[in-house]
Amino acid sequence: SFNLHNRSFLKEVDFTPKEWKFLLGLAADLKAAKYAGTELPRLTGKNIALIFEKTSTRTRCAMEVAAHDQGAHVTYLDPSGSQMGHKESVKDTARVLGGMFDAIEYRGSAQTNVETLAASSGVPVWNGLTDEWHPTQALCDMLTMREHSTKNDHEIAFAYLGDAHNNVANSLLVAGALMGMDVRIVAPRQLWNTDDVIAAAQTIAESTGARLTHTEDVAEGVAGVDFIYTDIWVSMGEPKETWDERIAALLPYQVTADVLAKTSNPDVKFMHCLPAFHDRNTAVGEQLFKQTGLGELEVTDEVFESSSSIVFAQAENRMHSIKAIMVATLGS
Ligand code: CP
Ligand code: NVA
Repeated sequence: SFNLHNRSFLKEVDFTPKEWKFLLGLAADLKAAKYAGTELPRLTGKNIALIFEKTSTRTRCAMEVAAHDQGAHVTYLDPSGSQMGHKESVKDTARVLGGMFDAIEYRGSAQTNVETLAASSGVPVWNGLTDEWHPTQALCDMLTMREHSTKNDHEIAFAYLGDAHNNVANSLLVAGALMGMDVRIVAPRQLWNTDDVIAAAQTIAESTGARLTHTEDVAEGVAGVDFIYTDIWVSMGEPKETWDERIAALLPYQVTADVLAKTSNPDVKFMHCLPAFHDRNTAVGEQLFKQTGLGELEVTDEVFESSSSIVFAQAENRMHSIKAIMVATLGS
């Protein structure tokens, strides 16, 4: 097996296909052990810092529950609660926390922050989302696809519709490349992944046999896929002035029942990292409704609530997959 001990988990491109699949196997094993009541704690006595400069439900809770299941203790630093980046540099914070904690999770804007924490703290650092990457999400998503498909990894096809200029789309493109999958990015051209991300994914695809496609054509993009994936159209930190323009450009890429039908696959599954705007039952949903007149954005409520939707199985898998990252990099 693979020794990922003391490694950080910052972005998918840092891992070989074999290392990535090792993490997936470990996630499945840890999930099975928890269900069977046979999980063994491998993080007893470890102290973990959770730094959140952006808000979170899933990632924070997954980190806390995974750590607890494995016998570790966590300290949560909330989006306004530390000196980092305000009164103290990231590099200094890294050296302080590295002297007290055995590992650090970081969620925030700049990828350079999580890279600096890893370079300067001396302990494993896990990326809980930056503007560029959301690697713990992509690991979860690959586990979820495996669980909801009878196919081999390289036979699985998925289409990502919507804002492909964000962290989740970047991570899915590279993760799909590591898996050898058929990956379709279906989005308006100005919201495709940047050229450097596409080039990095393409380099991996050449070694794994993955097929990576970018298209503006929904019917062409979704034909025959096993999974349709979308993410929120307005990510955390997107300036308000850009919302109207991006929503107008993205409207043709809303995941509707018609889009699912266009796959011609009656077993197609719908995925979303969440949180999702599929109704008006939130303050932000109401605000978007006032601004756009629309009660649903990236996915219709019909699809979100349909039997094709596996979004809550996916959300649970955040915990099992994050636990695998913790155990592999920090476990005894
Ligand atoms: N999917 C995800 O990262 O959710 P949170 O923002 O709630 O952590
Ligand atoms: N792209 C979204 C993902 C949230 C989990 C964001 O960055 O806000």
